[in-house]
This record gives sequence, C-alpha cells and structure tokens, in this order.
Amino acid sequence: SGAKPLAGRKAIVTSGPTHEPIDPVRYIANRSSGKQGHAIAAALARFGADVTLVSGPVTIPDPAGVRVVRVERAEEMRDQVLAALPADIAVMVAAVADWRVASAAGNKIKKRPGEAPPPLHLTENPDILKIIGHHQARPKLVIGFAAETENVAENGRAKLEKKGADYILANDVSPATGIMGGDRNRVRLIGREGIEEWLEMGKDEVAEKLAALIAENLAADLP
Ligand code: C5P
Repeated sequence: SGAKPLAGRKAIVTSGPTHEPIDPVRYIANRSSGKQGHAIAAALARFGADVTLVSGPVTIPDPAGVRVVRVERAEEMRDQVLAALPADIAVMVAAVADWRVASAAGNKIKKRPGEAPPPLHLTENPDILKIIGHHQARPKLVIGFAAETENVAENGRAKLEKKGADYILANDVSPATGIMGGDRNRVRLIGREGIEEWLEMGKDEVAEKLAALIAENLAADLP
C-alpha cells in the first residue's frame, strides 16, 4: 500500500541515553537527547509500522502513534528490546553507556571528612545492537548508528560485521557540529553495497529518509 508501506510490520527502536546508577541518587549518563531515535520511531509509525520505542531518560515528548517503554539502565533496555521480539525491523539509536558500575551501592555513598573518594569499578554493558544482530529471532532489517569522525567507510564496514547489522548510519558528534542535542544531523549510510553521503538535514528528515529506505528494503522481500 502506497500510503502505509510498513503496515503489518513490527519495529523496535531504541532512543536516548542510559543512566547507570552509582548509588540510589547518583548515576553515569551521556548527552544524548533522544531526538533522532524518537523521530525515527515517529516516522516508522507514519509509514504504518507497529512501533515499540524503548527509551532511556529523555525530556522530549513521546512520539505519536508509538508504544513507549521507558527504561533507565542498559540491562533494562536490553531486556525490553528482547521482550519486544519478534519484529521485522530493529533500529538501535540509543547512546547506551558502554560501562556501568559493577555493583551500585544500595545506600547513598556518604562523604566523610578525611576519607578518600570512593573508587568506581566499571564493568562492560551488554551490546544490544550486537545481541539483536546475532539473535535467533533476528529482525529482517537491523540498523545501528555510529559516532565516527574518521575512516568512516572502513570503521562502518567493520561495525556492520561485528554487530550483524544491515546498515550503519555514521554521524559526527564532535561538539563543533552541534549534532549531539541539536535538531540537525549529517549522516553517512553504510551498507553492504557501499557508502552513501546524505546532506545535512533535520533529524526528522533523516528519519523520513530512513523509513523510506526501510520500506524499500522490505518491499523487496514480501510478505
Ligand atoms: O559500538 P558503538 O557504541 O559505536 O555502536 C553504536 C551502535 O550500537 C548504536 O546503534 C547503538 O545504539 C548500539 N549499541 C547498543 N548497545 C551498546 C552499545 C551500542 O545497542 N551497549
């Protein structure tokens, strides 16, 4: 159907940062706003897909027409993504924290005069994109993002393989670009066939273009 090319398709999108607790009142986080992931969830819904958006803590509104599951930690995000399977499409946009505190304190860590600062022992978080890309119930299309500034084609191809993804959208998130937290994005689409440079455009336009690409890819293998 022309107007709703993704009708009958299920999509899982991750968005936003994760918050990794240090103790009940403190956490490790990053500057992701969720704007790009939320825009992609909204675009897929406009194209007719049944969308589950698994979002870390963000301050932007829920996108229209989307089931929103809110999480804080990477492990919760992984659990909710796995709970949303099976799906036809997975777009992992969240800026998942690479590390978490190995054992977060159950009570607030007290600052005591004369005592040294507490050491934070970090451990690696699960790589949700990699898990989904290699899952027995792998969605037909698995797409990730990558913050890259150099050797984009090479790093992108390597990331495709490592993560088991079909496409990686690489963007430059160095502070001068204003992309992190901003409304615009400039991405390079890396697929098995090669690399495509997209002009700088609004995050909503990137989302629309990506939804169209997804619809085109899935139309080639109906139903
Ligand atoms: O390895 P890197 O962090 O560069 O990969 C970025 C891509 O992998 C993004 O699509 C991001 O959402 C996803 N990712 C993930 N879980 C992680 C780390 C990254 O899903 N723990």
